[in-house]
Amino acid sequence: MKNIKKRTSTEDVLFQNLNRFFSTLDGIIDHEVVLTMQNYIQHGKITCLSHSLYVAYSSFRACEILRLDAKSAARGAMLHDFFLYDWHVPGNSEGLHGFSHPRVAHQNAKKYFELNAIEEEIILKHMFPLTLSPPRKREAIVVTLVDKWCTVRETLHLENRKICDLTLKMALIKSDEAND
Ligand SMILES: [Fe+2]
Ligand SMILES: [Fe+2]
Repeated sequence: MKNIKKRTSTEDVLFQNLNRFFSTLDGIIDHEVVLTMQNYIQHGKITCLSHSLYVAYSSFRACEILRLDAKSAARGAMLHDFFLYDWHVPGNSEGLHGFSHPRVAHQNAKKYFELNAIEEEIILKHMFPLTLSPPRKREAIVVTLVDKWCTVRETLHLENRKICDLTLKMALIKSDEAND
């Protein structure tokens, strides 16, 4: 009985966290161009959409715990790999993908969304140290570290499957609701 109660309340907290996370992404998560990130593979079988949701949710929670601007962290992280091409195909990127995609993602993000200074820095600096100038804003430092952590976990197939599955499912539901 005790175990059931504990499990239920842990699930409740998770869904409260997810609901707060998605409320910060209004206008982004239901945008048709953001959803096209599903068409591009980031690592292995992980799409850019799944990767971005994983990084964005993890950054959002880290920034909430650190009492930073979790909303900007979530929105910036959701767009940090918004480059919109298959980087595995030679010739698709402008020069070396690792170096150039933050700039491309930033251009795309600015085309569709209004970004604040934190969100812009998250997108432009997330590949540090490949981008020579380091992130200075605390939320951008968090996303830069979380992106690397999530990438390593995804590459080793050790990503948090529950978070990845739930965030993707909720993103698709939100998008369906918005476009009905
Ligand atoms: Fe990236
Ligand atoms: Fe990334």
